[in-house]
Amino acid sequence: MNYNKQIQLLKDTDQYRYLKDIKHIGNGYVEYKGRRLLNLSSNDYIGISQNKELSSEFISQLNKSNEYIFGSASSRLLSGNYNEYTKLENTIAKAYQKDCALIYNSGYHANTGVLPALTTKKDLILSDKLNHASIVDGLKQTDATVIRYKHFDYSQLDQYLEKNRNNFENVFIVSESVFSMDGDIVDIHRLIDLKRKFNCFLYIDEAHAVGAIGNLGLGVCKKENVIKDIDIVLGTFGKAIGSIGAFVVTTKSIKEILVNKSRTLIFTTGLPHINIKWTQFIFERLSTFENNRKDLLILSNKLRTIINEKVLKTIGNSYIVPIITGDNKLTLEISELLFNEGYFVSAVRPPTVPKGTSRIRLSLNSNLNIDDLQQVVKIISNKINL
Ligand SMILES: Cc1ncc(COP(=O)(O)O)c(C=O)c1O
Repeated sequence: MNYNKQIQLLKDTDQYRYLKDIKHIGNGYVEYKGRRLLNLSSNDYIGISQNKELSSEFISQLNKSNEYIFGSASSRLLSGNYNEYTKLENTIAKAYQKDCALIYNSGYHANTGVLPALTTKKDLILSDKLNHASIVDGLKQTDATVIRYKHFDYSQLDQYLEKNRNNFENVFIVSESVFSMDGDIVDIHRLIDLKRKFNCFLYIDEAHAVGAIGNLGLGVCKKENVIKDIDIVLGTFGKAIGSIGAFVVTTKSIKEILVNKSRTLIFTTGLPHINIKWTQFIFERLSTFENNRKDLLILSNKLRTIINEKVLKTIGNSYIVPIITGDNKLTLEISELLFNEGYFVSAVRPPTVPKGTSRIRLSLNSNLNIDDLQQVVKIISNKINL
């Protein structure tokens, strides 16, 4: 179809997207279209990217070392690997008590690079239907057979495994831990039971959990003390860690296969030293954010109570709090209304979420105060119950 027609179609169906020119002005606020807005649309769950003290401390360390390298200028397999990478991978592997960690340039790179490298047409991948687009894009690039099971429907997953397990060599179960759009949390013990029953690999994407949940903020699997049962744990640095990049923790042999076969690791320039150093700096301080994680939990529970009192529809049980509006147009109108009242909130519509489940997605951080959230819910409730 002609591009202009495609664009018009997106506009007609309230699915048109555009890049916003936003200025980040600190303390959780942004400036957009000349207005100062409280940002409720960021994954900065424990406030690291708003934390001026941390960034100043990092910069003064950097000044002392006088090591400013802003580009690695090569793929990691050529000359783009360096000792800060090794140091960070060792730090992460040790924290998770796993053999190895491997850093990718982003969660998108990791999710599109790991499963295609680890599977062949003799293998099967079972993936939760609400898994993130980066997982879905990875599945499109595998030679394996892919089955998507209903979100959290572990009986269906059991049935698929019962029917198919013996026809395949390696079988992977893939799930997020904290789901990015619904804010609900996987039952990791059910997945481990199935992994054991059918002898599968378990791949858990903790993008929205790392930093925010569990001992030292290492995620749901760590919190549930089941790391040893997970074959591949993926975490990202771009969300609660306030940096850029991603890691997988896994076995030595899986890491070796990934280094040899993972195209999104091999055919891209390594991350700049400065980012890896910043991630290391944050990782070494993860234990200092216990109070932020506690505050985040308290705030999420309070917000969910307020939403329930207003009889609005929400799902999940984490700091990602969606308010389901259903209709694309209504969702955009609410987001506009909130903008006028000083809140930057994302209107999430298909194809990011299934049709008919458009939503206002409130993404909390530990520095927010409950009065603001109360006000946001009031605005949404007034509009919906007009
Ligand atoms: C569950 C999940 N996995 C992976 C990613 C991709 O991570 P990154 O932003 O580092 O590419 C995201 C990003 O939104 C995500 O929500």
